[in-house]
Amino acid sequence: MKINKSYSLLVTGATLAVLAMSSCNRNPLSPGVEYMPDMYRGPALETYSQTKLNGKMIPTAFMPVTGSIARGFEPYQFANTPEGYEAAGASLKNPLTDVSNAETEGKELFIKYCIHCHGEKGDGVGSIKVKGEAFPVPSYYDDVHKLLPDGKMFHTLHFGKGLMGQHASQLSKTERWKLVAYVNKLQREGLGETGTTKDTTKIVVAIMPKAK
Ligand code: HEC
Repeated sequence: MKINKSYSLLVTGATLAVLAMSSCNRNPLSPGVEYMPDMYRGPALETYSQTKLNGKMIPTAFMPVTGSIARGFEPYQFANTPEGYEAAGASLKNPLTDVSNAETEGKELFIKYCIHCHGEKGDGVGSIKVKGEAFPVPSYYDDVHKLLPDGKMFHTLHFGKGLMGQHASQLSKTERWKLVAYVNKLQREGLGETGTTKDTTKIVVAIMPKAK
């Protein structure tokens, strides 16, 4: 019986040793002996990994074809340069014809996205200034901004300008035009004017930030 006991111990030990050794592998990424292989290595492709196609290793992600436009993305024809700003000011017109509706909806957007900087009346006194932040925000109806063309406003909303960030990623084109309509309304109210359109014959060139 004694011999039998040590014999079975020896067999068990040897089996464990063989198992332990066979589960080791020189490849550090290999899981060794796998109980259920698919649970370790799923058949789906890993993002940004390489895969084999027609005997060749190829990446699973490619750059979009040059000139392709992402779905739902609308290209903007003007560059983020002083020249692009001037060109937008000279050629872009607000496409929204229902001005009063644009102003009403623009006001709602203004309260969400702009009021804390520009102030309820568009005079540049928003809550951040009231709280004492030294953050210079211009009034929409100071001498530089009162005759700012709509196209320049839209361009600024698209790319941002100076300390104001871009809003193209948060607001659709239509929403940005609604905001332009509402800024126009604030300008008229601030200047005490009536009517719905600005006298574009008085347009002045707004001061551009110096290129860095
Ligand atoms: C973080 C504060 C901040 C927020 C938020 C902000 N603005 Fe501005 N805005 C500024 C500053 C600062 C300027 C002056 C930029 C300059 O001329 O350097 C400015 C300039 C402008 C101008 C004049 C643009 C030009 O071409 O001279 C318009 C119009 C304007 N903002 C509208 C808006 C609207 C509409 C929103 C909301 C979607 C908004 N802003 C959100 C800070 C802000």
